[in-house]
Amino acid sequence: MELIKVKDYDAMSEEACAFLVERINRLENPVLGLATGSTPEGLYKRIIEKYNQNEVSFKNVKSFNLDEYVGLEKDNPNSYYYFMKDKLFDHVDISLNNVRVPNGAAADLKAECEAHEAAIKAAGGVDVQLLGIGANGHIGFNEPGTPFTSTTQVVDLEQSTIEANSRFFDSIEEVPTQAISMGIETIMNSNEILLLVSGENKADALAKLMNGEVTEELPASVLQNHAKVTVIADEAALSVVN
Ligand code: F6R
Repeated sequence: MELIKVKDYDAMSEEACAFLVERINRLENPVLGLATGSTPEGLYKRIIEKYNQNEVSFKNVKSFNLDEYVGLEKDNPNSYYYFMKDKLFDHVDISLNNVRVPNGAAADLKAECEAHEAAIKAAGGVDVQLLGIGANGHIGFNEPGTPFTSTTQVVDLEQSTIEANSRFFDSIEEVPTQAISMGIETIMNSNEILLLVSGENKADALAKLMNGEVTEELPASVLQNHAKVTVIADEAALSVVN
């Protein structure tokens, strides 16, 4: 695992942008695994700037998102599909035919999970998987206790995750209690992983991930078993590691 230490959120976003732009430009048909949440927002903003400066193009990019809330339609402003359009897809030259966010409003959720998994395989697998981390160590929406052998599935969100994500909703009651999430095995099958960590509330999880045992109780710890992981973390997130 390679650790890149940066000062703050902005520096993390800058570094992450350079990392992704380099991969997108180098790979012939890049397949990206994308994340939502606060962590990658700064990265997406910078990538849009690079696109506007003709330094990167998404013409040949395919993307798969990690997760989506169960029950939210694509046009719901709290859906992750909406987030991705709003924060990235609508501002670059990616074809919406080449992006896949799990459909949390599908009538048959199990079939939708299988379809997500099959589409990733058909694309030849993910080249670069972008990850954030939950304060409880989740990656994707794989909460503590999720088997390392899991593939894309419907998951129950922990109360702490529901509370953390309620900041985006009008009230906590509106936060879905379930999501579709790529599994741990799905994430581990990516060729390369980029994990972004910012802020003091992630410091404990990051310290356990870097120095603790590999355990399903801390889903992110599985990354120790992956051959090509880059972690970009800011000083606040590294306050417990150091
Ligand atoms: C988002 C995702 C989650 C987030 C994590 C951190 O697609 O899969 O694992 O990365 O919950 O969220 P933020 O970045 O909002 O702190």
